[in-house]
Amino acid sequence: MNPADTSDLWWRTAVFYCLDVQTFQDSDGDGSGDFAGLARRIDDLSALGITCLWLMPFQPSPDLDDGYDVADFYSVAPALGDLGRVVETIRIAHDRGIRVVMDLVVNHTSDRHPWFVAARRSKKSRYRDYYVWRDKPPRKAQPTVFPGEEATTWELDERTGQYFLHSFYRHQPDLNLANPEVRAEIARIIGFWLKLGIDGFRVDAVPYLLTTAGAPNEQDPHSFLRELHRFVGRRAGSAMLLGEVALTHEEQLQYFGESAPELDLQFDFVASQTAFLCFARGEAEPLARALAARPQVDVSQGWAMFLRNHDELSLALLTDDERQEVFDAFAPDPDQQVYGRGIIRRLAPMLDGDPRRLRLAYSLLFSLPGAPVLFYGEEIGMGELDTSFVREAVRGPMQWDAGRNGGFSTARASRLTRPLPTGGYGPEHVNVNDQRRDPDSLWMFISELISRYRSTPVIPWGRLKVLDSGDRRVLAHECSSDEVTFLAVHNFSPEPVTVELPGWDAGREITVLLDSSGHTAPDLAAPDEAGRVRLDGYGFRWLKSAPPPTDHD
Ligand code: BGC
Repeated sequence: MNPADTSDLWWRTAVFYCLDVQTFQDSDGDGSGDFAGLARRIDDLSALGITCLWLMPFQPSPDLDDGYDVADFYSVAPALGDLGRVVETIRIAHDRGIRVVMDLVVNHTSDRHPWFVAARRSKKSRYRDYYVWRDKPPRKAQPTVFPGEEATTWELDERTGQYFLHSFYRHQPDLNLANPEVRAEIARIIGFWLKLGIDGFRVDAVPYLLTTAGAPNEQDPHSFLRELHRFVGRRAGSAMLLGEVALTHEEQLQYFGESAPELDLQFDFVASQTAFLCFARGEAEPLARALAARPQVDVSQGWAMFLRNHDELSLALLTDDERQEVFDAFAPDPDQQVYGRGIIRRLAPMLDGDPRRLRLAYSLLFSLPGAPVLFYGEEIGMGELDTSFVREAVRGPMQWDAGRNGGFSTARASRLTRPLPTGGYGPEHVNVNDQRRDPDSLWMFISELISRYRSTPVIPWGRLKVLDSGDRRVLAHECSSDEVTFLAVHNFSPEPVTVELPGWDAGREITVLLDSSGHTAPDLAAPDEAGRVRLDGYGFRWLKSAPPPTDHD
């Protein structure tokens, strides 16, 4: 398909930026970020070049899972603002050409949600069947997502003597998707936010959401996702669903939908976890293999690429030995690990703040076919908080400048939602303001990557081919359309390397889009006649080739 025919599939080429309103910018000095603060920062995000905000949960919540425990789907946590501020923020974002998607957390509610409060009052409550109840926990219960914090996924409700399902924390009872009334509630929630201008949803915990969807009448659980997709399409043709499905590529296929579309985009957890294995080993080969095997999906659907997100860096899709290699390299202290599967650190400290390795990592992110997703603070290489914050260690306040509280808030430090890191990753060393003035900063590099990505549509739209670089340390991949071919080469090792890509687009006109050594002249950076490409340690290069101009051009 010609990209020109797909302009309403905006999510295929979006540059996502995930943030928590609570930790982004405080406008009134109460120590919590808020929508008025975010609205003021949209121009900074626009300057970076991102095209879509992903807002983490902002609804009223007891905040026992950082807002992923929603107590009211139709309003805003009072400390963050009100619906008026949300709409204003969306309008400002739209005005700058930035779309806004939000988390849709409907696998469960908070146990303080009025539905659950009513449901647990009596077995006869009209809300009882909104949740999943059993007289006894099943013998083969699904394991908990948070081992060490929860022992089981079934909790006894003393008053009514039955157990309820909670895939996550015990204060997050799972909704019963098999109940048509629950499905209708979810549709209303979606319809509400679409009317307020939201452009789509990051659907939380999709496989868990579907586990109850088939029971008890055993309809196909995916019918729910198909319904949801049709509903979103009817209400807002250009809205999209981005799903969190942390499974293998093959398993993810069914969530794109087999008989009809389900999710429009899915995070590529395999690529992310494998990339960390590659960073740990100084080798590209595992990622080359994973990408070569990544299934093709329909042109209207795609992958959301990321390195770090707001959760632990889960390594659950790696083998035990591979996971251990990543732990040894990036989280040797057991306190930096969580649930036996993940790391609670941000990328910059994991890579020792080494600018060469950070640039390699982000160059890779923006060169892989898919829609790149940044987690706030990545653009300046923010560090994490103390490990006692566990998963929230990566959710510290945004560092805007070198002043008080990093420009996040004027409140007393003790009143902040979360503290700021101290030492080398503190705001006096790592902040947006300084980096926007420094041509060699990470912020500048990321803004350049975004601009290159956005002006090279063949990256997200093209056919992916992993080339044989002949060197385990180097990933060479191309994305091509009938006219244009994009080639990226990344050296994961500290040693300089020379790889041969014989015949790579010989005779065509080559443009150097990006080069870690700073060369942009084809005679220095393009492959020589033998197709040899030389890269520094952790070096990378982006090239574009097109047919040579013809006489009548
Ligand atoms: C989110 C987590 C959250 C969990 C429960 C997820 O997968 O990413 O942050 O704790 O869902 O809602």
